[in-house]
Amino acid sequence: MNIMKRLGTKRWGWIGLAAGLVLLAGCGQQAEPPSRLEPAVEPAAVEWTIGMSQCNLGEPWRVQMNADVRKAAEAHPELTVIFKDAQNDTLKQRAHIEEFVSAGVDLIIVSPKEAAPLTPPIAKAYQAGIPVIVLDRRVLGDQYTCFIGADNKLIGEAAGRWIAETLGGRGNVVELKGLMTSTPGQDRNSGFRKGIEGTDIEIIFEADMKWLEPDARKEMESALGRFDHIDLVYAHNDPGAHGAYLAAKAAGREKEMKFVGIDALPHEGLAYVKQGILDACFEYPTGGREGIDIALKILQGEEVPREVTLRSRVFTPENIEQGGEWIGE
Ligand code: FRU
Repeated sequence: MNIMKRLGTKRWGWIGLAAGLVLLAGCGQQAEPPSRLEPAVEPAAVEWTIGMSQCNLGEPWRVQMNADVRKAAEAHPELTVIFKDAQNDTLKQRAHIEEFVSAGVDLIIVSPKEAAPLTPPIAKAYQAGIPVIVLDRRVLGDQYTCFIGADNKLIGEAAGRWIAETLGGRGNVVELKGLMTSTPGQDRNSGFRKGIEGTDIEIIFEADMKWLEPDARKEMESALGRFDHIDLVYAHNDPGAHGAYLAAKAAGREKEMKFVGIDALPHEGLAYVKQGILDACFEYPTGGREGIDIALKILQGEEVPREVTLRSRVFTPENIEQGGEWIGE
C-alpha cells in the first residue's frame, strides 16, 4: 500500500532503534533505559495486499487455481488476497486490473482471458510500479514482472506424438481448440501440429470451442454429422474432451474413437481416465501455489526469474496408478 509497508514497517522499526542506540553510545552518552511505566509501542506488523484477477470461475480448473492461491496465502498471515472474477468478460477483467491499481494494491496476480486486450492495463500497472505476476495464459510483450505456467507447446507436441504412436501413424482426427485468442489455445495447436508432422494423420475437422464443454459438444455433433469414421478427438482441455465424448455417446459412436484431453484435475480429467472416458490426459498445473511463493519473494525485495515453467505429466489407464509419466524429459 505505502512505502513503509513495502519495506516492512516492523523490520525497519527495529533496525532504526538499534542504529539509534549505537549512535547514542558512540556519543558517549548513556541510553536511557525504557521507563517501566511507559508501555512499549508495538510496531505495526508487515501487511501486503494482493489483487488476484481470475478470468472466470465457471470452469473447475479455475476454481482449483483460486483454491491453490488461497491455501498458499493462508500460510502467510501478512498477506491479504482480494479475489475478482471477470466471468469470462475481457472488458470486466480490464476494469478489475485498473481498480487494483487505483486501490493501490502491493502486487497483482492475473490469469488473463485473452492476450491482446489484457496487455495494455497490465503494462500500465507494471509501469506504475506495481509488480504483476501473469499466471497460465500469457499477455503480449514483456511489461510484467514474472510469468508462471506450463509449456503449452511442449504439451501439444507430446500429445501429438502420443496420438501418432497410438494410432500407428495414420487416422482421422478431430481437433477441438481452446480459445484461439488465448496463448494456451495457440500453443496447444501449434505444438500438436509439430508432434504429428511427417505422419499420415489427417485433421478432418477443427473448431474453436473456447475452452467450454457445451461448445465442444455442439462442434462434435457437427463433426459426427459430417464424418462417418473418426479415430480420435484431441481437445485442448478436459471439459472439451468430455463434451465431445457426450456427443459421441449420444450418437452411439463413443466406442469408435479415442479421446485425449488436457488439465488432469483429480476430480475431472483423472476421473475420466479411470472411468475409461479419456484414453490420455495431459497435466496442466494451475500455478496457484507458485504464484504466492513468487509474490512473497517480490514483496520481500528478492530477485525473481522472468519466467517459471511448470512441469507436466501424461496420464493413461496404464500409468495412472503409478502417478503418470513426466513429459519433456
Ligand atoms: C480453464 C482453462 C483450462 C485450460 C486453461 C488454459 O479456463 O480452459 O481448462 O487448461 O484454461 O488457459
